[in-house]
Amino acid sequence: MTVDVYWRIGMGGDHASLRTPKIRNRGDWGGLGPGNITPALRDGEPDGYAYIDHAAAVAKASEAAGFLGGLLPSFPGTEDPWALSAALARETTTYRFMVAFQPGFLHPLQAARMSASLQRATGGRLVYNIISGGGGPAQLWWGDKVDHDDRYARTSEFLHVLKGVWRGEPYDFDGRFFTTRGAALPEHLVGEPFPEIYFSGSSGAAVNAAGLHADYYLSWLEPFADLGRKFDGVREHAAKLGRTPKFAVRIDILARHTEEAAWAEIEKGWRHVDPEIANRQAQGDSVGAGRIKGWVPSTITGYRDVEVQPNVWAGFSLLRGGPAFGLVGSYEQVAERLDQLLDLGVDAFILAGNPHLEEAYRVGEEVLPLLGRSRFTRPTALHAPASVA
Ligand SMILES: Cc1cc2nc3c(=O)[nH]c(=O)nc-3n(C[C@H](O)[C@H](O)[C@H](O)COP(=O)(O)O)c2cc1C
Repeated sequence: MTVDVYWRIGMGGDHASLRTPKIRNRGDWGGLGPGNITPALRDGEPDGYAYIDHAAAVAKASEAAGFLGGLLPSFPGTEDPWALSAALARETTTYRFMVAFQPGFLHPLQAARMSASLQRATGGRLVYNIISGGGGPAQLWWGDKVDHDDRYARTSEFLHVLKGVWRGEPYDFDGRFFTTRGAALPEHLVGEPFPEIYFSGSSGAAVNAAGLHADYYLSWLEPFADLGRKFDGVREHAAKLGRTPKFAVRIDILARHTEEAAWAEIEKGWRHVDPEIANRQAQGDSVGAGRIKGWVPSTITGYRDVEVQPNVWAGFSLLRGGPAFGLVGSYEQVAERLDQLLDLGVDAFILAGNPHLEEAYRVGEEVLPLLGRSRFTRPTALHAPASVA
């Protein structure tokens, strides 16, 4: 068995380091601020270097460092992952693009045509991260008032229609959320491999939909025992539907030659954390985010308060936004923890670090080899078609 290892490509700027979290000085996202020597806006004037140039550097670096592909997240106010993946594909060779998107904001036929075009243009390098949204202000930003469980019903219906039209025969569908009449992909787009589906969400509704559609059930990192139980639940539910999904975890990494050096980096970043923010509750209806809150003390006074098990640290969200959990330690310790996750049944990792460029090389060259390169899926230009069942 091999493991698929992805790197995250930031879609909303890039911090120079976790030590200076407020300044996104890569590409043209940073704007002009004290100490910001961002290319793209030198002396306050655009100089032609744009964020896509930085994202391309990260994609190329992570491809060179041995990653199979990159996750392109999607939030209000980020770049659009579909558009950027099309541009980044021209900068890379075998690198896969895991596009995060919320079904429901696209008609499935539009998604099918975009996906088939991308498959055709890239030699089959598109992967989906199907997300169904966390409610609250971020959901309303999209004008989406559909409630939590109905968002998963919509996701499920969307994937059903997407798979239906992918077959290339005229397809009719009348559902709660989507309708099509005689829909079929253009002839030249028929026959492309259907993208692998990574499926996120911790709620019962998410697990139900994942049982039907996930090739990989994807979770944020959690304490390992809890993660194992969560995977067992997904496995059992999917088995009742005759399916056997694989498992993937999205993990921030801060690894250095020694454990002390790794925690020293965290400590420097922690100096910028506002205690008010550290103790603030996230808004929304995400069950996954609620689970995370359950492992974080209600009052946080220091960074070691959120080390929930050795090397597993739940403070990343406070340094740079995004998911809370990641691994902090020496290269060997982090590799050991990844090995433990593989023993728990994990088949794929989506790793991340700030700044994305340098950390891609560091993690790819210092941590991954300790797991043994033979464990990694080797990139190929065209991956095998995933089933459209
Ligand atoms: C690994 C992972 C990546 C995610 N990426 C995104 C993202 O890029 N954009 C987004 O809006 N939500 C993202 N989400 C959040 C999901 O949309 C959803 O809010 C979350 O999984 C909560 O669903 P639940 O209530 O079923 O737990 C992600 C979730 C996970 C687990």
